[in-house]
Amino acid sequence: MGGKDLERELREAFYWFHEHPELSYEEVRTTEKIREILSAHGIEILPYRLETGLVAVIRGEQEGPVQALRCDIDALPIEEETKLPYRSKEPGRMHACGHDMHITAGIGCAVLLQENRSNLRGTVKVIFQPAEETSLGALKILETDVMEDVEKIWGFHADPTNAAGTIAVREGFVTAAVDRFLITIKGIGCHGAHPDNGIDPIPAAAAVIQALQSIVGRNVNAFHPSLLSVTRVSAGTTWNVIPAEAVMEGTVRTMEREDRELYEKRLREIAEKTAQAYGAEAETEWIPGPPATWNDKEMADFCTNLASEMGFQTAVEESSLGGDDFAFYEEKIPGCYIKIGTGIGHPIHHPAFAVEPEMLLPASRFLGSCLMVYAGGGFNPLAES
Ligand code: NI
Repeated sequence: MGGKDLERELREAFYWFHEHPELSYEEVRTTEKIREILSAHGIEILPYRLETGLVAVIRGEQEGPVQALRCDIDALPIEEETKLPYRSKEPGRMHACGHDMHITAGIGCAVLLQENRSNLRGTVKVIFQPAEETSLGALKILETDVMEDVEKIWGFHADPTNAAGTIAVREGFVTAAVDRFLITIKGIGCHGAHPDNGIDPIPAAAAVIQALQSIVGRNVNAFHPSLLSVTRVSAGTTWNVIPAEAVMEGTVRTMEREDRELYEKRLREIAEKTAQAYGAEAETEWIPGPPATWNDKEMADFCTNLASEMGFQTAVEESSLGGDDFAFYEEKIPGCYIKIGTGIGHPIHHPAFAVEPEMLLPASRFLGSCLMVYAGGGFNPLAES
């Protein structure tokens, strides 16, 4: 298939995915559409019983490693505010994180590899993963045995801080560990005019919220990026009753494993002891999410060199305290998470976020090249396609 035909097909697919966003674990039509396009190109789909998402495989005709490419496929509960002719047809749902681009570039990459199987060394599994936005969708894929023989994994993300098609990569940390906490402060409810008859959990909760910020300022190594945000606080039902409990939840973001442990320990201590000082009690729940993503140095260097050789604009990848469940795969094998410029514009998760579709074919070519050249063979048949 020539570049022009593939470009047209990718654009049309991208418009369709953008018009039909589906939330995490609900990506049924999305999965069907991916299956339909891949099957039309004769690409094999592995027979896993995933409710949503699928894994395609391209078997090279030469010996080589088993690699994977992860593409996440879910959308967000956001009302789209763009004027694009292909804007979301689903009220309150939008591909505002560029996963529609991830799907399309993943398809483009699979098609290019399939067409170049005679030059491909080893096997490439393209994972169309559900529910990245929950931070847990990768675990659905990991419940299958698909990753068991995979030696290296590649991931990528839309990057609206760079011009369309720019390849940004760096070694080391790229996204943070994403942990969640829930603290319940238990007091004794009473009349608003007689706090002496109860234990008011609200001042205790306020003190806990203030004290939690001391973890980043006083406990964590100042050279390690991290943060704690209390994002929800709730207590009481009316103005003249002191409630029996106050609840707060939030998120902790860290890059280093040791900081993750430190935060959990200090968070529990601060909640319990501060509450105690107010005569109340605290119960803390710590809900771990994915660890930090870490780019393998050799893979990252390879990627930067390849991008330059192929004439792509390159940039240094910004690290972020956002997260990606791609890190769950990297607990098992080395990986590299690349940012691909989608045109400078609104940030991801913004209702006017948009991808410039001319980057779809170059992104597909770059990802295909990455997998093909990394597997060995000395030349890159996708450089000119
Ligand atoms: Ni995303």
